[in-house]
Amino acid sequence: MGVLSNFRGSRAAHNAQGGEELPTLANGSSSSLVPKKKWSNFLPLFVALVVIAEIAFLGRLDMAKNAAMFDSLADMFHKSSPATTEFEMIGDGDLVIEKPHERLAEAEETCEEWLGKQDAVNYSRDFEKDPVLVSGADKEWKTCGVGCKFGYNHGKNPDAAFGIPQATEITSVLRSMESAQYYAENNIAQARRRGYKIVMTTSLSSDVPVGYFSWAEYDIMAPVQPKNESALAAAFISNCGARNFRLQALEALERENIKIDSYGGCHRNRDGRVDKVETLKRYKFSLAFENSNEEDYVTEKFFQSLVAGTIPVFIGAPNIQEFSPSRNAILHIRELEDVKIVAKTMKYIAENPDVFNQSISWKYEGPSDSFKALVDMAAVHSSCRLCIHLATMIQEQEEKGPDFKKRPCRCNKGSETVHHLYVRERGRFYMESIFLRSGSLTLKGLESAVLMKFKSLKHVPIWKQERPLSLRGADELKIYRIYPVGFTQRQALYTFKFQGDADLKNHIERNPCAKFEVIFV
Ligand SMILES: *[C@@H]1O[C@H](CO)[C@@H](O)[C@H](O)[C@H]1NC(C)=O
Ligand SMILES: *[C@@H]1O[C@H](CO)[C@@H](O)[C@H](O)[C@H]1NC(C)=O
Ligand SMILES: *[C@@H]1O[C@H](CO)[C@@H](O)[C@H](O)[C@H]1NC(C)=O
Repeated sequence: MGVLSNFRGSRAAHNAQGGEELPTLANGSSSSLVPKKKWSNFLPLFVALVVIAEIAFLGRLDMAKNAAMFDSLADMFHKSSPATTEFEMIGDGDLVIEKPHERLAEAEETCEEWLGKQDAVNYSRDFEKDPVLVSGADKEWKTCGVGCKFGYNHGKNPDAAFGIPQATEITSVLRSMESAQYYAENNIAQARRRGYKIVMTTSLSSDVPVGYFSWAEYDIMAPVQPKNESALAAAFISNCGARNFRLQALEALERENIKIDSYGGCHRNRDGRVDKVETLKRYKFSLAFENSNEEDYVTEKFFQSLVAGTIPVFIGAPNIQEFSPSRNAILHIRELEDVKIVAKTMKYIAENPDVFNQSISWKYEGPSDSFKALVDMAAVHSSCRLCIHLATMIQEQEEKGPDFKKRPCRCNKGSETVHHLYVRERGRFYMESIFLRSGSLTLKGLESAVLMKFKSLKHVPIWKQERPLSLRGADELKIYRIYPVGFTQRQALYTFKFQGDADLKNHIERNPCAKFEVIFV
């Protein structure tokens, strides 16, 4: 149902562009949106029709008296109205207006309407009837933004398959939540060399990231409990072995007189048969030591510490700050030499309740937008995100074909150019249309067009049902990021930014009917 999005898009875009109606005739009675049955609204139109009918259909004028003919004449009138004849193709898809329209506002809208129709090329595959099929465990993802099925369908090749790449046409998918330092094959470059087309790992640079975090799995906003243990920190480290210095760091902290209650197999001094999160809640600090220091590899050790309202003392991903719910919410031991200063800081925080409270203030005031934007990603199951990724690839392949290449994607109106763009929320599949005039081809212009569009659709962000109640906000929409479809989450959330208006303009001019994704917070 690819076209549905286009159709919905162009229709609603008109509402978004200042809430004006479609092209108006004579003294303002709206033409194509008014149901034809409402004759009383058509009096001026009727007069116009009679005139047209007299000219074009002289011999059949009598028939205009009957209702059926009135309808079909009205249709003809629309077809021959200036709205659809004022553009002319010249050169390789450049468009000019044959004769400048007398009323500028009308012409603007018709340009957009025209693009809405011309660009609405249908995709050959309807994913609702013919869902994305991934071979693997049998499961249908009913709530996915695109038809999505895991399983085997006799007589039909799957679109993708988990497991070792075969010598076939089938797209192979690697999915793993293990660190690449333990499982080298999870390294993205290495996986690609081995023939995997789609990589799903904890890396936000992978095609479809699979993280340890989600609102559903962790009660991240659970209330803070009194810190009544005498030891400063709790540790749940199952074994001392690791590809980093976590064991040495643990011993070094003890040498700095940090009292640690250890419930795991490594340096155990407490009975480990306890509820981990409930236990952590009684401590000010939690030793969240991963077994490897790898970008984006952040496991439950970290997120459970957040649930418990303890300050994570962290060893692991060098970019852990990107996972922090606020500034000053975590202590990061980057290298063994940091232990001394971290121990000192722990003691200082422990002795100053206000400073401690400040470190966990996100529990009261809510985490940063950047944290929300990260965790919201997991509001859509990774399997569903895989299907969306595959369906997007399939459509992009088709967009290279002649029907799509022919789309105008922009039209000129006077000295201005109207650009047709597509945008969807991250985690959804179908696109909405927006139109940007050259005068508002800026980052601000893009943002406000996107906002207007989604407001007019009364759009409900995809995380609405997932976030804890206290973080759902009211009905307002707030944009966190807009980025081109196909960018990784690492780019989308952290590294990509249009370098000013010129960069955006350049992107849109180079990518006709450019597609964007938006993250709301
Ligand atoms: C696309 O499909 C819809 C219905 O599925 C149809 O009404 C429309 O005319 C089609 N458009 C084109 C350009 O083929
Ligand atoms: C700390 O408080 C919890 C209840 O919040 C209680 O179950 C626990 O025994 C207390 N621990 C100490 C050491 O007082
Ligand atoms: C901690 O700070 C929050 C505001 O961020 C406040 O509501 C709460 O009462 C404070 N708690 C303590 C124990 O100071």
